[in-house]
Amino acid sequence: MIIKTLGISTSPRIKGNSDLLLREALAGAESAGAHIEYIHLSDYNIAPCIECNACYTTGTCKIQDDFQQLLKKMLDADRLIFATPIFFMTVCAQAKMLIDRGQCLWANKYILKKQLISTERDRRAMVIAVGGSKSTKQFESIRLTMKTYFDVLQINYVTNLFINKVDGLSEIQKHPSALKEAFRLGKELITAETPLPQKPINVELT
Ligand SMILES: Cc1cc2nc3c(=O)[nH]c(=O)nc-3n(C[C@H](O)[C@H](O)[C@H](O)COP(=O)(O)O)c2cc1C
Repeated sequence: MIIKTLGISTSPRIKGNSDLLLREALAGAESAGAHIEYIHLSDYNIAPCIECNACYTTGTCKIQDDFQQLLKKMLDADRLIFATPIFFMTVCAQAKMLIDRGQCLWANKYILKKQLISTERDRRAMVIAVGGSKSTKQFESIRLTMKTYFDVLQINYVTNLFINKVDGLSEIQKHPSALKEAFRLGKELITAETPLPQKPINVELT
């Protein structure tokens, strides 16, 4: 079976640090036989959630933009790699706008009690986050946000690659191990056997 792997790069910087790590992780997944697709979120027109609560009754978001197309890809994927820079201690605005539109998924799960994805499916997700400062506390907010998001996306949160003290454009290329780690973890996302880890595997590098 071909494992469909979707990578979403949310940084506004093409060839930014999280973007380069995502590309390596996807290359790792591809080396293990996965079919990969890379998306640069800034190419998609995604408006912020307006809390109209229409999805509480319909299960779908009433804002018509590129979200529907992207959601289909996310629900279709067997593996998802979500990459973000850390902005003010959490995910960047582009990532947050996409995540907040997931409120319609929350409505399906918790209000309408509707299953959008078969529970039989083996879906797994990985997060890549890069910050420029020396703080590692910010990884906690990324973890919480992504855990809540993956819960409504009905995908198992299995891996984190968190890196701090990397700031300049493409500076990650000078890091001694980060790109190799991204490749390895991307590959492992495809090859790792079940049972899944109780908590996400956490790789933190500086
Ligand atoms: C608006 C803004 C806010 C930022 N906030 C943080 C922060 O809270 N913590 C941190 O470690 N780095 C912060 N940074 C630095 C970026 O996380 C850092 O440059 C990172 O390498 C960017 O990743 P990218 O190249 O993938 O976009 C901030 C940068 C910007 C532009």
